[in-house]
Amino acid sequence: MKNALITGASRGLGLALARQLAQNGWGLVIDGRGKKALEEARELLSAKTKVIAISGDVTAESHRKKLLKAAQELDGLHLIVNNASLLGPSPQPQLLGYPLDVLEDVYRANVIAPLAIVQTLRSAIKPDACIINVTSDAGIEAYGGWGGYGSSKAALEHLLRSLSCPRTCSIRGVNDECCSFIEYRIFPAS
Ligand SMILES: NC(=O)c1ccc[n+]([C@@H]2O[C@H](COP(=O)([O-])OP(=O)(O)OC[C@H]3O[C@@H](n4cnc5c(N)ncnc54)[C@H](OP(=O)(O)O)[C@@H]3O)[C@@H](O)[C@H]2O)c1
Repeated sequence: MKNALITGASRGLGLALARQLAQNGWGLVIDGRGKKALEEARELLSAKTKVIAISGDVTAESHRKKLLKAAQELDGLHLIVNNASLLGPSPQPQLLGYPLDVLEDVYRANVIAPLAIVQTLRSAIKPDACIINVTSDAGIEAYGGWGGYGSSKAALEHLLRSLSCPRTCSIRGVNDECCSFIEYRIFPAS
């Protein structure tokens, strides 16, 4: 049995990925801050596979330690999907007026936490594991008004490329008025 940790899997893309992996028999560790939605996701996924749901915030060290325990309980991870993310204020403030304490929160959730998860769970990551960080087209193109979130995703992309993991890749969510699609980009082993 293969096992994955997907952060932010109580809804959206994280839940969709979790459902697909559960369908294919993967054991799962999932998280999300809201307990109710996470429990609903756990119930849904449990019909297909073994699921450990840990409610909490990826930015908290105590939560990441619980994720490590859960990963050990599943006998290690073949995949980590760093999906949980913070968009920041809506509408997005221009950088010159961006509240810096909020920008710190965005970077803490989108850049520091994904690395911290890999660091904390390192001992439970299988040698041939894959790490996927979910980024954004806003991390590639500099859209006016998206500099806070976009630059955090750009930092995440760079961090991913610098990680000396066996296999890393990014999933870039892209959204505009007409369509919504996901671009996949595989980075070679470094
Ligand atoms: N939707 C788009 O159009 C789009 C476009 C480009 C990129 N993306 C990227 O795609 C990813 C998923 O987006 P989405 O639209 O599916 O998001 P979403 O529907 O808002 O779901 C986010 C998930 O992450 C959880 N979460 C948020 N902050 C968390 C935290 N600090 N700790 C733990 N869990 C947390 C949420 O649950 P709680 O709130 O209960 O914690 C929820 O389960 C994100 O990385 C996003 O940046 C999305």
